[in-house]
Amino acid sequence: MYKIAVAGTGYVGLVAGVCFAEIGHQVTCVDLDERKLELMKSGVSPIYEADLEELMQKNYSAGRIDYTTDYKSAYKNADAIFIGVGTPEQHDGSANLSYIATVARQIAETVEKDCLVVVKSTVPVGTNDKVEQFIQDFLLHDVKIEVASNPEFLAQGSAVHDTLHAERVVIGTESEWAEEQLTKIYEPFHIPIVSVNRRSAEMIKYASNDFLALKISYMNDIANLCELVGADIQDVARGMSFDQRIGSKFLNAGIGYGGSCFPKDTKALEYIAKQNHYELKTVKAAIDVNKEQKTLLYKKACRRLITFNGLKVAVLGLTFKPGTDDLREAASLENVPLLIEQGANIYAYDPVGAKNFAKIHPEGENGNGTITYVSDIEQALAGANVCFIFTEWGEVKAVTPELYKRLMRTPLVYDGRNIYGVEDMQVAGVEYHSVGRRPVVPTRSELKELNSLELQAAKF
Ligand code: UDX
Repeated sequence: MYKIAVAGTGYVGLVAGVCFAEIGHQVTCVDLDERKLELMKSGVSPIYEADLEELMQKNYSAGRIDYTTDYKSAYKNADAIFIGVGTPEQHDGSANLSYIATVARQIAETVEKDCLVVVKSTVPVGTNDKVEQFIQDFLLHDVKIEVASNPEFLAQGSAVHDTLHAERVVIGTESEWAEEQLTKIYEPFHIPIVSVNRRSAEMIKYASNDFLALKISYMNDIANLCELVGADIQDVARGMSFDQRIGSKFLNAGIGYGGSCFPKDTKALEYIAKQNHYELKTVKAAIDVNKEQKTLLYKKACRRLITFNGLKVAVLGLTFKPGTDDLREAASLENVPLLIEQGANIYAYDPVGAKNFAKIHPEGENGNGTITYVSDIEQALAGANVCFIFTEWGEVKAVTPELYKRLMRTPLVYDGRNIYGVEDMQVAGVEYHSVGRRPVVPTRSELKELNSLELQAAKF
């Protein structure tokens, strides 16, 4: 059993802390936010994440995890301190390391026994060398401090599962002592450990995330071509997936990747390359494709519709993916303002993300348009002229094609997640546009009728 302190209680820090407690270590999570800590002590998770609250409550009652603002007492006698604070993206794409620097300084001034400092946050290659030097420079007591890199590969929505049952743990160390400490800490997880040097570990994180981002952008690029040549991206992906060299995951075309990692880490690696006078062409391509992809359906809809002004627009899904209330880099954040600017009356549904979205776009009048948040998908669809699907929540997938036909004023659906079978939408009589597949478009006379209905609804 190790005495572990964790700096930062965001996704990375809190999930790591809870999972270390779960396997038997003694954990203290440190954060600045007193109110958040009180909430966590009462068993409430500050983030929406499957299984997290349950494990927080269980391990808090068992006395294996505690939460505090008092970093001095947490760090003083810790065997290991894990740093899981944010490294937000700066304007130039580089990572802001000020939170890491603050924690490093606090560690240097408080540790009173030999201690391994483990950086879980995603940091540019070479940062951990600097963190170690920084701590040495400010160290107050005569103790051994070493820094190890231990990047995190969890995905939001399945963070606890991903940590407890990871496919690998990557540890980057510069001494046998550090490698041994970290290996022992992870031993109870029974997960394969990849032990490399610090810089390689830092690079593995970026290379993995950027490879996945690239995979998605590649499929989106191919999807756009599929539409032009009459192929179907889902069939293409299925055909590719049987080749084990390609694999079956992350082949879903759609309206691009969002979230806290891919957009940030692709730009960060591009920046690192630039600093080293190298152009990372593949990653740049992934970024460019993703930028275009996010508003692809909006642009398609603009070509199809005369105006959005006064139209009722149903928006299904706001978060960057299902299973989270996180909106970071979500496609909805780009599309909703465009629709509002055009005077749309938006009826938005998201089972958990609506509250966060309303903080950015409050309910009611919004510039030229309006936005209303509904807790029932049928309310969003009733009398709607257009529907956009941005997130593939189970609740959205459960909507049958017939329901669009029955409830919408004009059954016109733009599906950014390829939820429906093209045939099914055709049979139901829904005009349907998705990504990388043939559109279901009405006949000329049906189109004339639909357009006149849309015009009737629009207020000029
Ligand atoms: C990702 C990585 O999966 C994780 O290993 C890393 O530590 C952090 O970044 P996360 O951002 O939580 O995790 O979500 P993920 O499930 O990877 O999805 C990211 C984005 O890619 C989402 O917007 C999702 O919709 C999109 N995506 C994913 C696709 O568009 N197509 C796919 O095939 C897969």
